[in-house]
Amino acid sequence: MSALVELDDIAVHFNVKAQRSGAAATLRAVDGVSLAVERSQCVGVVGESGCGKSTLAGVLVGMTTPTSGQVRYDGQDVGVHRSKDLRRRVQMVFQDPVASLNPRRRVRSVLSELIDCHGLVPEAGMNSALNSLMEMVNLPQRVLDARPRELSGGQRQRVAIARALAVQPDVLVADEAVSALDVSAQATVVNLLADLRADLGLTIVFISHDLGIIRTLCDRVTVMYAGRVVEEGPADTVFASAQHPYTRALLRAAPDLKRRGAESRSPALEGEPSGALDVITGCPFQPRCPEAEATCSTTPPPFVGSAAHRTACIHAAHQAE
Ligand SMILES: Nc1ncnc2c1ncn2[C@@H]1O[C@H](COP(=O)(O)OP(=O)(O)OP(=O)(O)O)[C@@H](O)[C@H]1O
Ligand SMILES: [Mg+2]
Repeated sequence: MSALVELDDIAVHFNVKAQRSGAAATLRAVDGVSLAVERSQCVGVVGESGCGKSTLAGVLVGMTTPTSGQVRYDGQDVGVHRSKDLRRRVQMVFQDPVASLNPRRRVRSVLSELIDCHGLVPEAGMNSALNSLMEMVNLPQRVLDARPRELSGGQRQRVAIARALAVQPDVLVADEAVSALDVSAQATVVNLLADLRADLGLTIVFISHDLGIIRTLCDRVTVMYAGRVVEEGPADTVFASAQHPYTRALLRAAPDLKRRGAESRSPALEGEPSGALDVITGCPFQPRCPEAEATCSTTPPPFVGSAAHRTACIHAAHQAE
């Protein structure tokens, strides 16, 4: 089956000024990422702050133009300017529903304007379309007449999801969409996303720091480090037998995941990622890697494994041999 959304060797470089010297520099926020998301799949993206997750999300929804690489949608090259229809098909849900919803506008007006703009429902069907959107996100109809500040955080995030669903998308990119919520609101929104996927066949890219949620929700997981993918595979396999030392360090650091014997013997991850402006010749994780060898600082690690589970690490290469 061909992927619904495919990123092929995507780079996003920003021209910035180096903080100390003020000299012009290139920040490689995303540096050669390939990713294939199949229809109705839920793919989790993890990695520490600054590794390029939101930049990648921006590329997926067309908010950010890649410096190089290709984005394909349903097998077609998307190009720089997306059609209105394509923009409709890939929607984003952000971390902060307060910032992403206009506080002065009632929910009904926001949703109906969007539906109108895309000509998705005839005027006579608008009320029933709005009511079914509320049903989809498990909110009472009265929320349609509320303004965002009258709602709880969890309700606001469900309104933000309803806003994304209003335009009947194929893909939802959720960028830390539950991170700002308390635990019970998180569970409600995560369950809602799982239901939407099951009921509507929605394809979801779920960006999160929370490995526990990714394990519950996602079929596949992509682990990013310093703008690159270091490991990617079925969530079950990656959680049970992570191949990359960075993935193993992330799993060890996750408070809600059980330690496994072999993993808990390795030292904990120390230090910080390389500076965003550093040019990396070998493996980006090498300066912090407890398993690094001399070649890791000079040779970029090849991807090894299978198309289903691949890892950018020479140690994984050794295991595969
Ligand atoms: N518009 C921009 N101009 C310059 N640098 C940027 C821009 N957007 C992002 N960056 C930089 O790109 C890198 C990746 O940022 P990004 O927001 O994608 O990370 P992230 O993985 O989403 O982090 P977090 O987990 O904190 O949300 C960071 O170093 C960030 O400062
Ligand atoms: Mg981010």
